[in-house]
Amino acid sequence: MTALAASGARLEVSALHASYGSGEVLHGLDFHVEAGEAVVLLGANGAGKTTTLRALSGMVRTRGSAVLDGQRLLGRPVDHTVRLGVAHVPQGRGVFGELTVEENLRAGAYLRRDRAGVETDLAHWYEVFPRLAERRTQQAGGMSGGEQQMLAVARALMSRPRLLMLDEPSLGLARIITRRLFDQLGEINREQGTSMLIVEQNAELALAFAHRAYVLESGRLVRTGTAAEVRADDGLRRAYLGY
Ligand SMILES: Nc1ncnc2c1ncn2[C@@H]1O[C@H](COP(=O)(O)OP(=O)(O)OP(=O)(O)O)[C@@H](O)[C@H]1O
Ligand SMILES: [Mg+2]
Repeated sequence: MTALAASGARLEVSALHASYGSGEVLHGLDFHVEAGEAVVLLGANGAGKTTTLRALSGMVRTRGSAVLDGQRLLGRPVDHTVRLGVAHVPQGRGVFGELTVEENLRAGAYLRRDRAGVETDLAHWYEVFPRLAERRTQQAGGMSGGEQQMLAVARALMSRPRLLMLDEPSLGLARIITRRLFDQLGEINREQGTSMLIVEQNAELALAFAHRAYVLESGRLVRTGTAAEVRADDGLRRAYLGY
C-alpha cells in the first residue's frame, strides 16, 4: 500500500460534558488518543458512546475541552472539526444513498484543494476496497450493508483525517465482512499512522484490533487499560462487555 500524506494527531479530552436539551448524558470524561493509536470505546446501550463522538465533532452541546494537536475542537461547527482533521463515520452508515459511489468518495474530499492528491487517493481506496471500484458508477443506496459501510469508511478517509472516528462499524454486517473491514482498518492504522477512536459493540473484535480501550458506563469512564488488560479481566468482561 502506498503511503498517503496523512498522519495521526494526538487527542486530549478533559472534563467533557455533553447534553441534549436539559439532560446531561456525559458527566466529565477524561481520555486521550495518542498520535497513531487505535482506541476503542466500549459500553452498554445508552452509555454515551455515540454522544462522545458527536461531542468531538461539534454535533451536541458540550462543556470541557478537547484538543487535537494543539487545536481546540469543542464549540466549533462540524465543518471546522473536519478542517482540523477529524473524520466521523456516524452510527448507521454515513453515505448519500442517491449519489454514486464515486460521488460519495469525492464528497469526502470536499474541503481539499489538492486535486491531484484527491485523484491519487481515489485510486488508492479503490485498490484497497475493490468492491467500491466495481461499483463506482452505481448508486450507493443500492449496495449491500457491508459495501455501504466500506464506502462510509473510504469516504471518511478521503478527507485525509488525522483522527478517524467510527461509530459501530460492524453494525448489521456479517462476521466475515466485519473481520475484513477491521483488517483493513488495522492496515490503515499501521501503515498511515491514522489515529482512531472506535465505538464497537463487538468487543472481542475491537479489542483484537485496538491498542487501548475505555469502558463507558452511564456517561462516565469506569475503566481503561490496554486491549490485552481489558480482555484478560473476566469480571469486567462479564459486567460491561457481555461475553
Ligand atoms: N437526540 C437525543 N436527544 C435526547 N437524548 C438523547 C439523544 N441521543 C441520545 N440521547 C440519550 O443520551 C444517552 C446516551 O446515548 P448514546 O446514543 O450516546 O449512547 P450509546 O452508548 O451510543 O448507545 P448505543 O449502544 O445504543 O448506540 C442515552 O440515555 C440516550 O437516550
Ligand atoms: Mg451509539
